[in-house]
Amino acid sequence: MKGVILAGGSGTRLKPFTKIINKHLLPVGPFPMLHWSILKLKEAGVEEVLIITNNESIAHFQTMFGSGESYQINLSYKAQPHAGGISHGLALAKDFVNGERFILLLGDNIFEDSLKPYIQSFISQKESAKVLLKEVDDPERYGVGVIDEDRRIITSIVEKPTSFVSNFCVTGIYMYDSLVFSYIEKLTVSARGELEITDVNNMYIANDSLTYEMLDGWWVDAGTHESLYEANQFVYQSRDHRKGDEQ
Ligand code: DAU
Repeated sequence: MKGVILAGGSGTRLKPFTKIINKHLLPVGPFPMLHWSILKLKEAGVEEVLIITNNESIAHFQTMFGSGESYQINLSYKAQPHAGGISHGLALAKDFVNGERFILLLGDNIFEDSLKPYIQSFISQKESAKVLLKEVDDPERYGVGVIDEDRRIITSIVEKPTSFVSNFCVTGIYMYDSLVFSYIEKLTVSARGELEITDVNNMYIANDSLTYEMLDGWWVDAGTHESLYEANQFVYQSRDHRKGDEQ
């Protein structure tokens, strides 16, 4: 299976650092944030990864991670011309994915679980997409999934809900088939000026083809100063925090 990592965006919640550096290059433990996404994909057996970032940062990523040789993974890069949203960035992966099923990671999501079992169940399911959920205390920060009474299916996803709908955050770990690119073509720009991944996931729901699983271990969206600090705490507390020292 191929992997795509999104590492663009404007990182406004991590100013002032993000005035001069892409947030995915800020330290989490002894490595740049994106190291952890690459490592998770590598450990799950993904061999080819496309990193999508902005024009200004692409050279920094190439210098930092190169062709992926030290991870024993094949890395390639593509520039997103402007921060038009997660789906806008993902659209650039169409040729790379080449009609196959794939996994998409948001590069600011740092988490404990291995991706292996989730990828395995996605490969064997007939439905064409899967998301991973995590129960959170601050659902207003995320896209959240509403689950039916017997907790079998997600009935809808609401992006940044202004009143309570659910505590189940849709994490930035998504698995799709190539239908995702035709859904993206149908999207219109949201109120915040982006092509939303939540709108794509709701299209899969409308076609009864989105499954979900709950993440077991810790999970952080390291997009704010507080959550970046929290991600560092989790990583330093884990026994594996030097993992990848050979890079
Ligand atoms: O972390 C999970 C959440 O991520 C989900 O629950 C939300 O549904 C999803 O919309 C997203 O919300 P955020 O507000 O955290 O998105 P953010 O703008 O921080 O971007 C998430 C990642 O995607 C980050 O690693 C940067 C990358 N990105 C973002 C945009 C807008 C791009 O590569 N290009 C972009 O244009």
